[in-house]
Amino acid sequence: MEKERPSYLKAKRRTKEEVKVLTDAYIMNNELSKIGIGKKYHLITYGCQANVRDSETISAILEDMSFTKTDSMEDADIILLNTCAIRENAHNKVFGMIGRIQHLKETKPNILLAVCGCMAQEVSVVDELERKKKTVDIVFGTHNIQNLPQLISEAIDKNEQVVEVFSKEGDIIENLPVKRDSMYKAFVNIMYGCDKFCTYCIVPYTRGKQRSRRKEDILKEIDDIIKLGYKEVTLLGQNVNAYGKDLEDGISFAELLELVAKTNIPRVRFVTSHPWDFSDEMIDIIAKYDNIMPYIHLPLQSGSNKILKLMGRRYTKESYLELFNKIKSKIKNASVTTDIIVGFPGETEEDFLETLDVVEKCKYDGAYTFIYSPRENTPAASMEDNVSLKEKEERLARLNKLVNEYYKENNDKLLNTIVPVLIEGVSEKNEDLCCGYTDTMKLVNVKCPKDYIGKIINVKITEAKTWSLDGEIDE
Ligand code: 5AD
Ligand code: SF4
Repeated sequence: MEKERPSYLKAKRRTKEEVKVLTDAYIMNNELSKIGIGKKYHLITYGCQANVRDSETISAILEDMSFTKTDSMEDADIILLNTCAIRENAHNKVFGMIGRIQHLKETKPNILLAVCGCMAQEVSVVDELERKKKTVDIVFGTHNIQNLPQLISEAIDKNEQVVEVFSKEGDIIENLPVKRDSMYKAFVNIMYGCDKFCTYCIVPYTRGKQRSRRKEDILKEIDDIIKLGYKEVTLLGQNVNAYGKDLEDGISFAELLELVAKTNIPRVRFVTSHPWDFSDEMIDIIAKYDNIMPYIHLPLQSGSNKILKLMGRRYTKESYLELFNKIKSKIKNASVTTDIIVGFPGETEEDFLETLDVVEKCKYDGAYTFIYSPRENTPAASMEDNVSLKEKEERLARLNKLVNEYYKENNDKLLNTIVPVLIEGVSEKNEDLCCGYTDTMKLVNVKCPKDYIGKIINVKITEAKTWSLDGEIDE
């Protein structure tokens, strides 16, 4: 049977059709479980935490098939690229990697290459990958990870390219296996997809409609990680504040957060929050529970009301600042980070100054800053892109300069204070040091015994840098 390919028209559709929760969509039988015996997989993940979490499922599926992991691409029998479509440079990185693998295949033609994730949901990308039949063996999307065993089996049996990408509103697939990257902190999806359709963003097309998971399923997953000794859970969603709006039991994100806090897992985090759905109840719950971390990622995107309107963000500079101030005044010690796009179509110098004005007022603890990148088929892609690349680059540099000043200023405030740090591992730059994150999500390098890894310890900050802090154990 001919397999489904992506369609922008279908990806855009939102109906009132009920979301199906499938508990038996993943099939692992004796035959499939032997395909990977004696073979290795190498998985590269691009993009956000949703992709990182998907990769944890992809790894577990491959290990169910008896593949073992290798960190070396040259050693692998199957290479998988879990891709991101958010900006053009993410695209370019993936196509660069495909080029490298093409070379590798010249000497090792039996290697299988699979491309999945958000780029695989794009019509033009799939068209291009179909032209690379000799290099790319499997293409699958974000809605059919559970079918990976069958797709690999088919690619091996038929010895030809297998493409299967669904563009649909989406189901919820439960009971997929997971092999978590960390033994101490875990990502748990609370919802999939996005219905916000910000005009620049490709995510609503690549990940389908907003579907909240049932609270029982979320709490069960959290219960499982608590039993395994995990110290931290991050609740994941494109817009977690809207959690539950599509569920019949009427549960809100604030209520879910409270249920998760009551499990007593030491640390609860969540990303990402759209300012639009951020309720007062949420702020109260975050303030009430010590195990909900005082860290909020609150994307601004732009400080200009004109640009926010063009972006379809549905808040104003003023309402954003009001929310920001409420968060800061009600949540003790709250650290707030943000995302900002410069050079959106129509952005003038005055508009950009409005963005800088918000940054000056909020003095963010951190900011991810981007040059606007037109994404095929999104509404903004057909707006006239009248800001020159030079201007965009200059604005980004000015913005980064300001943002970095506040990074450092906020870090300086922690000098000589004692902060709780979940020690996660050995520092990449210096083997004598361990590293971890504070409750407010700041990276700390600390000299401590290796058996502190996995523990939350009090650290006295001895040096503040722009991107990290140094500290020593506070006995
Ligand atoms: N161009 C530039 N940045 C984008 N983002 C999303 N789409 C685009 C785009 N087309 C940024 C937003 C979002 C973050 C995850 O990526 O700031 O919050
Ligand atoms: Fe994209 Fe907006 Fe949805 Fe975030 S809220 S994923 S920026 S459409």
